[in-house]
Amino acid sequence: MGRRPKKEKKITKIPKEKIQSYQLLRGMKDILPSEQKYWSWIKNLGEKFAQEYGFKKIDLPLLEELGLFVRSIGKETDIVQKELFSFIDQGGEKVCIRPEFTAGIARAYIEHGMFNLSQPVKLYTAGALFRHERPQSGRHRQFHQLNFEVLGEAQPVIDAQLILLVYSFFKELGIETKIEINSLGCLDCRENYQGALISHLRSKKKQLCENCKKRLTRNPLRIFDCKELKCQSVKENSPQIVDWLCEECKAHFMRVLEYLDELEVLYEPNSYLVRGLDYYTRTVFEVFAKNSIGKSSQDALAAGGRYDNLIEILGGRPTPAIGLALGIERTILKIKETNIEVPETPLPKIFLAQLGEKARIKALLLFEILRREGITVAENFSKGSLRVQLDIANKLGVKLTLILGQKEVSDGTILIRDMESGIQEEIACNKVIKEIKKKLYS
Ligand code: HAM
Repeated sequence: MGRRPKKEKKITKIPKEKIQSYQLLRGMKDILPSEQKYWSWIKNLGEKFAQEYGFKKIDLPLLEELGLFVRSIGKETDIVQKELFSFIDQGGEKVCIRPEFTAGIARAYIEHGMFNLSQPVKLYTAGALFRHERPQSGRHRQFHQLNFEVLGEAQPVIDAQLILLVYSFFKELGIETKIEINSLGCLDCRENYQGALISHLRSKKKQLCENCKKRLTRNPLRIFDCKELKCQSVKENSPQIVDWLCEECKAHFMRVLEYLDELEVLYEPNSYLVRGLDYYTRTVFEVFAKNSIGKSSQDALAAGGRYDNLIEILGGRPTPAIGLALGIERTILKIKETNIEVPETPLPKIFLAQLGEKARIKALLLFEILRREGITVAENFSKGSLRVQLDIANKLGVKLTLILGQKEVSDGTILIRDMESGIQEEIACNKVIKEIKKKLYS
């Protein structure tokens, strides 16, 4: 019988109008495989510190009621006024993608009755947050934090220990830091101070941006963290909150500084540090790389403070608390700027090569067996040529290559090739794990 002529395969083209390309949204970033080593390093260190300092892990939803953040962070803040990703959901509820963790943690503490646990409750979380900011280096609309909170303890030693935690964290990454620190006092100190501040700022009203003019009487402290340059210059010569602290708040602040002295943590008091969120009381701080020039809150690697009234404001019992968050993107930027070497994750020491269809199936199974034994194996099952596979194995720098061909499959054997000497040894396939372990680890 004559052969039928081969039919040309018809290639159907996708109509142009069905093609549409997409790009990242502004302020969002893909974290590519080449970047992952930085992320794993920081996240793993976060978990290690959390464990060593006695923090329990908590995960929170990305979406919360809008009111939770407005209440906690404050109506007059930039975050609430300009930066929330909020919307009305299909059920008509006003919701918001989390711009920070603290409010969610406070909500969870109350909702799950954590005041019944032995205090303080130390919670750790990590993940993505969203703020509609103007993107620039180290400032994104989706960014990530490691977050540590201690709830249910008012002692200044806790403030010092948390600052020590973040200071040591950066040290372990190879980043020397300096802490800017201030005390915002309690509500009473704040009320007296705000009176003095308003009378001072009234004389400078013309120099303020439109937003800060409105904030002048409603929440004058916010003027200090306004990003507008003209507002920044107005804060010089303003009354300083440290001069308005009550005896208890002053003693608390002094004790925190004494602890930091004893712990040899490098810090600098900054009386105009107010932080961009309203819930803070007493100690507030921001962490900067030691040698960063012209620093502003925009460059802080981490930041935090006490929020002794927040739990009560959100309907819980009066519960003093303090926390901090470390910005992962900014930390990575600093690691790169300072050329810090990231510890590499160990590469596979073995390559599994196969020749022919039967060997490929057996290799797939063997790969699973080795993986379950904790032996990481590199492979390229889509390649058929041994030469190509050995080239890949060479490039990966593996110590051994396992070779399975048709002959080995029918004999129940496998070849082990020492990549340095090129010597190949045939062994029974069921002895492969024992042999590998002997060659790799003894
Ligand atoms: P925060 O100062 O808003 O505080 O943020 C803490 C850190 O997150 C910053 O110092 C920075 O490293 C990083 N960060 C903030 N916004 C961005 C952004 N748009 N892009 C990149 N990184 C950013 C808080 O979030 C408080 N909840 C911290 C806290 C915890 N206070 C008490 N407990």
